[in-house]
Amino acid sequence: MSNLLIDIDRLLRRIRALGEIGALEGGGVCRLALTDQDKAGRDRVVNWMRELGLGVTIDRIGNVIGLRPGREDGPPVMTGSHIDTVATGGLYDGNLGVLAGLEVVETLNDAGITTRHPIAVGFFTNEEGARFAPDMMGSGVHQGALSLEDCLATVGIDGATLGDDLARIGYAGETPVGGIRARAFFELHVEQGPVLEEAGVDIGAVTGVQGISWTQYTIAGTSNHAGTTPMRLRHDAGYVAAAIATEARHIARDMGGDQVATSGVIDLEPNLINVIARSAKVTVDLRNTDEYRLQEAERRMANHVASLAQNEGVEITAKTLARFAPVEFDDEMVTLVAATAETLGHSHRRMPSGAGHDAQMFAPNCPTGMIFVPSKDGISHNVREYTAPAEIHAGANVLLQVMLSVAES
Ligand code: GLV
Ligand code: MN
Ligand code: MN
Repeated sequence: MSNLLIDIDRLLRRIRALGEIGALEGGGVCRLALTDQDKAGRDRVVNWMRELGLGVTIDRIGNVIGLRPGREDGPPVMTGSHIDTVATGGLYDGNLGVLAGLEVVETLNDAGITTRHPIAVGFFTNEEGARFAPDMMGSGVHQGALSLEDCLATVGIDGATLGDDLARIGYAGETPVGGIRARAFFELHVEQGPVLEEAGVDIGAVTGVQGISWTQYTIAGTSNHAGTTPMRLRHDAGYVAAAIATEARHIARDMGGDQVATSGVIDLEPNLINVIARSAKVTVDLRNTDEYRLQEAERRMANHVASLAQNEGVEITAKTLARFAPVEFDDEMVTLVAATAETLGHSHRRMPSGAGHDAQMFAPNCPTGMIFVPSKDGISHNVREYTAPAEIHAGANVLLQVMLSVAES
């Protein structure tokens, strides 16, 4: 293994500079996909790519890939992640993976190294799915798991159409989607959970990503006076939304194990203290590492929703916003990440990912691995998200070495 090391100060400077765009009080960032803030963030990263000599391509779903030629032609060893964020995002989620990729490139540039195979750094459109569902959209289209046309036609939570906003911000590119295939894909990411910190471990060699099931329920009830309407005559959309959210928790509690369940959105109409809600929207996010268990959770929720509709006399429509089966990463790549951490003197453990990642879209099509670094207090999707410089340094050096290893093989 080479003794090259990344420059942590340079990487941190880029993380901070990108974090200035859409900065939030408390240290976080809001760059929802395809907003003006996302555009400004994209422009900044594209400038850095060009400064580093990368050949930049933008595809039709707005994925941006910077290519560094190798001694031989052929598919690149790719790394990357996303730079869109949730509305309450931290500085590291996604951004770390993209900027660490640029840092790998700059380290190789400084050392005058041309790898055998090309190297590429990408950022993929709308990983978060917070404005347009589903999540992992750009990488999903890139890897053929999602339809380009469906994604371009997606309407966001604010009524915008994805394809229109992509054109509006100047990122509806010409390159055919998936025009650049990957020889292998690696993603460095913050863990976004408590496992590494609690165990006092530096590096997670990610074994796979749990399955994700997102459903939005729309409930049509009857609005009426909160004081005069007898309980037996109510068709209360607000009650049903709350009951669905509660059932999500009950399912996770009863199933135990790896099952998690979240109800992150409840919207009521007209949302007034003394008016029975006429309509409601509620979202349910179910995740499990085991596909059969995830299906069991979905079944339980569907049954409960059907009986709520009947008992309360409301109409409930269910819309699947995202559905991804659990993914396992290539064991050789997982072992490479772990062995590289070991050689660099970092403690490590194999672990699954609780969050969705662009890497999971690559996994069925090329050898794929992920590197996790600890998240302070296990906090993410929150302005308080934090990973210490020494932890980032360790993770980025592992990324550099695994990329070098595959790019030379
Ligand atoms: C997306 O990144 C998610 O895990 O929700
Ligand atoms: Mn992320
Ligand atoms: Mn995220």
